[in-house]
Amino acid sequence: MISEAKSAFQLDTIYLGDSRVILPMLPENSIACSIWSPPYHVGKPYEVDMDYEAWRTLLRTVIHEHYRILQPGGFMIINIADILTFKDPTMPRIMAENKSSKRCPVTREQILQAMAEHPDYSRQKIAKLLGCSEQTVQQRLQGNNVRGGKYAPQTRVHLVGGMLEAMALEASLYLYDRRIWVKDAAWENSQWHSSSYRAVDEFEYLYIFWKPGVTTVDRTRLTQEEWTSWGSRAVWHIPSVRANDDHPAKFPLELPRRLIRLFTKPQDVILDCFIGSGTTAVAAILEGRRYVSIEIEPRYVQLARSVCAQAHQVAAHSQLTLDFAALRPSKRRRATKKLPCNDAVR
Ligand SMILES: C[S@@+](CC[C@H](N)C(=O)[O-])C[C@H]1O[C@@H](n2cnc3c(N)ncnc32)[C@H](O)[C@@H]1O
Repeated sequence: MISEAKSAFQLDTIYLGDSRVILPMLPENSIACSIWSPPYHVGKPYEVDMDYEAWRTLLRTVIHEHYRILQPGGFMIINIADILTFKDPTMPRIMAENKSSKRCPVTREQILQAMAEHPDYSRQKIAKLLGCSEQTVQQRLQGNNVRGGKYAPQTRVHLVGGMLEAMALEASLYLYDRRIWVKDAAWENSQWHSSSYRAVDEFEYLYIFWKPGVTTVDRTRLTQEEWTSWGSRAVWHIPSVRANDDHPAKFPLELPRRLIRLFTKPQDVILDCFIGSGTTAVAAILEGRRYVSIEIEPRYVQLARSVCAQAHQVAAHSQLTLDFAALRPSKRRRATKKLPCNDAVR
């Protein structure tokens, strides 16, 4: 697949491979806007083998490569969150015994019995069945506290924005803007309960970096109503993707759609070098843009190619009445409704 990229740079293609290898093969000044969400260093399945330094090196390498491939005046947009439980063995102890109003009476034996009776249940469903939290299930089964605790290394919050800004500046890319994506609170999607004073995680960032060059500001890209409701707003309220069963970290289609409509014009080339389930490419197709995407996991490449094929069909038939849920064969189909231009679609 790498040779696929080398031999001929093809638009509207999802490349299988490591971004650090594929990006250098893309022509210079070829990308109008790059929109991506990298691994967050929070222990997702696709990042477990990457330690903190390896993660920083990945981000730095990918960011640096952008200067060459972005068109002058183009943008690189990174969606990311801070790390709320960054393990720091040098951090002094913060926790004494956990004081809770009630200690959960659910036992390991009850959990094992429930799992035997419902072998298809997820940890979340088992927790719901027994009326306890997912941590309790985890702790009883594995005898540990996955979010840290009295005997684990202390965790602190690690802000990533400054790190990205510094990496981009090294590459001569300038922070042009930043926005906040307010998503569902974590507790709306799961049975996790915090055993600290920290807030649950319910927002992420969009960091928008600019490559020096002429940038046309075209106020006609959005309607006046769209400028007012989100185009000129720093805080975007967009519900999270609720069904993450085919990929653990999808962002909602509305997120890249807004960015694409705001920062690019029809036929511009959009890059996502961490494409995952294909969301950015689908948004590009539905908005009449071209795309190039990269993904390291073969199964996600397959998924992304499949949703893109369907999005191409939708676009070809100009059926912009279909929402993204309908592009996933395994999902229940929703009643068809016209996509609102200025509101979340998920
Ligand atoms: C946060 S997810 C992106 C999810 C995507 N925005 C979506 O909506 O589905 C990051 C993705 O980057 C992929 N990835 C991790 N390291 C990579 C690398 N070095 N090159 C390309 N893809 C990589 C992971 O497999 C994962 O699918």
